[in-house]
Amino acid sequence: MTTQQSPSYLLEMLGISKSFPGVKALDKVNLKVRPHSVHALMGENGAGKSTLLKCLFGIYEKDEGDILFLGQPVNYQSSKEALEAGVSMVHQELNQVLQSTVMDNIWLGRYPLKHGFVDHQKMYDETKQVFDELDINVDPKMKMANLSVSQRQMVEIAKAFSYDAKIVIMDEPTSSLTEKEVNHLFTIIKKLKDKGCGIVYISHKMEEIFAVCDEITILRDGQWLIPARWKGWIWMPLSP
Ligand SMILES: Nc1ncnc2c1ncn2[C@@H]1O[C@H](COP(=O)(O)OP(=O)(O)O)[C@@H](O)[C@H]1O
Ligand SMILES: [Mg+2]
Repeated sequence: MTTQQSPSYLLEMLGISKSFPGVKALDKVNLKVRPHSVHALMGENGAGKSTLLKCLFGIYEKDEGDILFLGQPVNYQSSKEALEAGVSMVHQELNQVLQSTVMDNIWLGRYPLKHGFVDHQKMYDETKQVFDELDINVDPKMKMANLSVSQRQMVEIAKAFSYDAKIVIMDEPTSSLTEKEVNHLFTIIKKLKDKGCGIVYISHKMEEIFAVCDEITILRDGQWLIPARWKGWIWMPLSP
């Protein structure tokens, strides 16, 4: 605990507070995510998990606190801005254009161009490359509407990956997956981790947290409880 100091965090959310009329949704909450690690964010419904991440993505304006990414203060105004900086989120309700192809969804808003036209071959090749790297077996030319929920989720993760995301936030990612699909997701999470990403894994399923997470932050009614690190047999508290 004492040996790992300053450059050890990708993302630091420090002392974040946020109130809504009549509710203190977050009261000086911290979330610190290291490279090469999966950080669980736990807490009952209404604990403040989504509010914390909405403060990160500029959807809500925090009342107090600081956010550092790679040690630098940041204040993203939109998820697009965060994504372009390397902070991405795989939402619980997937926000994809079902009538478009897989590769269209991945490159939407930043199509590769050649002589002023969309370079479909480049789009295909680059999508295929990302899929191969993550072991995702989906044809980039397929229509999103023809994919299963888990495949759509994989596409979303591949999109984050294609933006060279350093932080990938997953909000209850397994809620509609079968056991086999969950295992594939865990394999992908491990790959992201090996690449140096920090993953924030929002869940309240204890068995998943034991299976993939290295560290944990627990929220209760907007209050931050001491975080801990899994040591192979016991959760060791981390210093704040
Ligand atoms: N836009 C909002 N307006 C008013 N209250 C809100 C709003 N968003 C969240 N809250 C309140 O903040 C608290 C935390 O909610 P939320 O962050 O959604 O929790 P979680 O994601 O952990 O289930 C709850 O009491 C919720 O009712
Ligand atoms: Mg929520």
